Amino acid sequence: MALASGLLVLILSLLFVGARTQPSQFGKIPLGSQLSPISETRSWLSPSGHFAFGFFSQGNGFAVGIWVVGQPNNTVVWTANRDDEPVSFGATVHLSGEGKLFLRTEQGNENLIANVSEVADSASMLDSGNFVLFNGSSAIWQSFDHPTDTILVGQNLTFNDTLVSSVSSSNQSSGRFILPLQTDGNLVAYPKKSASLSVDAYWSSNTYRNDKKGLNLYLNNQGFLLMDTVSAKPVLLARSSYSCNNKTTIFRATLDADGIFRLYSHCLENKTSWIVHIEWSALDDQCNVLGFCDFNSYCTGKGTNADCSCYPGFAFNEPSERFSGCYKNVTESFCTGTDEGEIYDVITMENISFERYSYSVLDTKKENCGLSCLEDCLCDVALYINERCEKYTAPIRFGKKDINATSIAFFKVQTTPAAPPMGQTVITESKKSLIVFLAIAFGAVTFLCFVIAISTFCVSSVEADVSAPDEINLSSWAYQCFVAGQLDKLVKDEDVEFESLERMVKIGLLCVQHDPAVRPLIKNVILMLEGSKDIPTPPSIAPFNISA
Ligand SMILES: *[C@@H]1O[C@H](CO)[C@@H](O)[C@H](O)[C@H]1NC(C)=O
Ligand SMILES: *[C@@H]1O[C@H](CO)[C@@H](O)[C@H](O)[C@H]1NC(C)=O
Ligand SMILES: *[C@@H]1O[C@H](CO)[C@@H](O)[C@H](O)[C@H]1NC(C)=O
Ligand SMILES: *[C@@H]1O[C@H](CO)[C@@H](O)[C@H](O)[C@H]1NC(C)=O
Ligand SMILES: *[C@@H]1O[C@H](CO)[C@@H](O)[C@H](O)[C@H]1NC(C)=O
Ligand SMILES: *[C@@H]1O[C@H](CO)[C@@H](O)[C@H](O)[C@H]1NC(C)=O
Ligand SMILES: *[C@@H]1O[C@H](CO)[C@@H](O)[C@H](O)[C@H]1NC(C)=O
Ligand SMILES: *[C@@H]1O[C@H](CO)[C@@H](O)[C@H](O)[C@H]1NC(C)=O
Ligand SMILES: *[C@@H]1O[C@H](CO)[C@@H](O)[C@H](O)[C@H]1NC(C)=O
Ligand SMILES: *[C@@H]1O[C@H](CO)[C@@H](O)[C@H](O)[C@H]1NC(C)=O
Ligand SMILES: *[C@@H]1O[C@H](CO)[C@@H](O)[C@H](O)[C@H]1NC(C)=O
Repeated sequence: MALASGLLVLILSLLFVGARTQPSQFGKIPLGSQLSPISETRSWLSPSGHFAFGFFSQGNGFAVGIWVVGQPNNTVVWTANRDDEPVSFGATVHLSGEGKLFLRTEQGNENLIANVSEVADSASMLDSGNFVLFNGSSAIWQSFDHPTDTILVGQNLTFNDTLVSSVSSSNQSSGRFILPLQTDGNLVAYPKKSASLSVDAYWSSNTYRNDKKGLNLYLNNQGFLLMDTVSAKPVLLARSSYSCNNKTTIFRATLDADGIFRLYSHCLENKTSWIVHIEWSALDDQCNVLGFCDFNSYCTGKGTNADCSCYPGFAFNEPSERFSGCYKNVTESFCTGTDEGEIYDVITMENISFERYSYSVLDTKKENCGLSCLEDCLCDVALYINERCEKYTAPIRFGKKDINATSIAFFKVQTTPAAPPMGQTVITESKKSLIVFLAIAFGAVTFLCFVIAISTFCVSSVEADVSAPDEINLSSWAYQCFVAGQLDKLVKDEDVEFESLERMVKIGLLCVQHDPAVRPLIKNVILMLEGSKDIPTPPSIAPFNISA
C-alpha cells in the first residue's frame, strides 16, 4: 500500500516535470479559486511566468510555497507553514469565497496559509515573487512579510525578523541555522541550537545602529544587498557583478542549509532555463560555520566539502547524518585507579580547536597534560595550548581541524570494554554536579522549589554555596547537556530514572531563566513534578547581554 502510493506520487511528480511550465493562470486570482497537486492548476503563475505559488513535491508528498520556475530545478523561495508534515495528493489550496487562504488536507483539516483577520477580495502572484492578498487595492497580507530562508528584490527584513535555513535543498523545514536582524541593527548568524550569544555567532554584518527607525535589509534591482536606516547612509553588504548580458535576472539572498548566507543571481538563458551564479558568500568554508558539526564532533575539509568526524571515544548519533553530532561511547565516567585490570589511555590529536570552556586549567608540561586527564574522572579531553593544560568534560562543541591551531588534544579512551562499578570516591565526586545544579536551579526560584527538589531526590545536607560565575557556567552547561541529549552527564554514575531526571532538569532550567515571566508558577511546578502538567521546552540560558 505504502509502496503503491509512493509509486503514484512518483508518477505524478514525473508528470508535473512536463506540465509545470505551462501557465495555468495569470494576473488576478478571484475568490473561489482552488489548487490541487493532481489537477491542471497545481500553481498560480506570476504574469511573467517566472514565479509560481502552489504545490511542490516534498518528501513523499507536497508542500505549499513559492518558487522560481524553470530548469535545471525549480528554486523554492518561500514555504507556507514549513514545519508542517507534507500533505498527500488529496490536499487542496483554497482562496475561499469568504476571502480566506487555506490548505485543506486530504483528511479535511484546514490550515490557514495567510493568518489575517481582514478578508481578501482577490490575490496575486506578483512578478517580484511576492504573493499578495488584496482588499481592493490595499495589500492585507503578503508573503514578503513572512520570510523563511530567502529574501528577494523588493523584500525587506526589518529588525526582529529572522531568516531560518532549510534542512536541505529538498526539505524546506526549519534547519540548523538562524540569521536574525537584531534590534541592535546587526545581522548575525548563529546555530539554532545555541543561546544566540556573541560566542555563538559565526558571521555578522557589523552594522550596529542606535537608531533602529527604518532599519531594513533589502536587495535592490541591481542585486546589491543593503542595510538601511533613516539616520545613516545605506551600508553595502554585498554586490552582484555578473552582467547576465542584459537578460532577465532574478536575485535572491538565502541562508543556505549549510549555514552560509549567499547572494545568487538567476539569469534567464532561454524560455525555460536559468543559469545560477553565486554572487557572494558570507563565508567560504563550511567549517567556519559554528555548529556545522554538532556536539562532540569536529569539522574537516575546505570550502563546501566539509565533513564531520567523531572525536576518539565517541560515536555518531546518526551515522547517516554525519553533522548530527556524536555521543560518548561509554556512559560511565572512568579514570585510572578506579578498578584493577582496566586500561585507559589517551589518544592525541594535533591542530584541533573547539570551544574553550574548560572546568580546570593547569600549569603543567605537555607530558603531564594527558596523564592529568587520565587521572581525573571528570575529564573527557585535555587540550594543551599556550603551554597550559585545559581540561574539559563533554559535550564539547564547535570543533574543527585547524592547521593554525597550535594545540594538542588528549582524548581519554577506554582500551578494554565493560566498565566495572565505580569506586566510592568517584560516586561522591560525580554526585556533585546534579546536586549543585538542582540546588541552584530550585534555590533560584523559591524556597519551596528548593524543598521539593530536596525531597524528590532524598538528598540531605546540600552545599549550595556556589559563586555567581559558577552558577552561570553550571546552568549553561546543564542547558548544553540538555540540548545535546546528554543529561546523563549531569548524574554520571547515579542510578536515576531517565524520565524523572529529564523532568527535573527541564523544570530546573525553567526556574533559572533570567526572564521572570518564563519561570513557572509554584503551583505549576508541583503539577509538573507530579507529571500531570506538560513541561514546556526551556528556552536557552542567556546569562550575558545578547550582542555580537
Ligand atoms: C525534513 O526535515 C525534518 C527535520 O529533520 C524532518 O522532521 C522531516 O521529516 C523532513 N521532511 C521530509 C519530507 O523529509
Ligand atoms: C537539481 O535537483 C537534483 C535532484 O534534487 C539535484 O541532484 C541537482 O543537484 C539539482 N541541480 C541544481 C543545479 O541545483
Ligand atoms: C493567527 O494569529 C493570531 C494572532 O497573531 C494567533 O493568536 C493565532 O494563533 C494565529 N493562528 C494560526 C492558525 O496560526
Ligand atoms: C476592505 O477595506 C475597506 C476600507 O478599509 C473596509 O471598509 C472593508 O470592510 C474591507 N473589506 C473587507 C471585505 O474586509
Ligand atoms: C520595503 O521598504 C521600502 C522602504 O521602506 C518600502 O518602500 C517598500 O514598500 C517595502 N517593501 C515591502 C514589500 O514592504
Ligand atoms: C523582538 O522579539 C522579541 C522576541 O520575540 C520580543 O520579546 C521583543 O519585544 C521584540 N522587540 C521589538 C522591539 O519588537
Ligand atoms: C546592456 O544594455 C545596455 C543599455 O541598454 C548597453 O549599453 C550594454 O552594452 C548592454 N550590455 C550587453 C552585454 O549587451
Ligand atoms: C535552454 O538552455 C539550456 C542551457 O543552456 C539548454 O540546455 C536547453 O536546451 C535550452 N532550451 C531551449 C528550448 O533552447
Ligand atoms: C591560517 O592562517 C593564515 C594566516 O593568518 C590564513 O591565511 C589562513 O587562512 C589560515 N588557515 C585556516 C585554515 O584558518
Ligand atoms: C599544526 O599544524 C602545523 C602546520 O600548520 C604544524 O607545523 C604543527 O606541527 C601542527 N601541530 C601543532 C601541535 O601545532
Ligand atoms: C563502542 O565501543 C565498543 C567498545 O567499547 C566498540 O565495540 C563499538 O564498536 C563502539 N561503537 C561505535 C559505534 O564506535
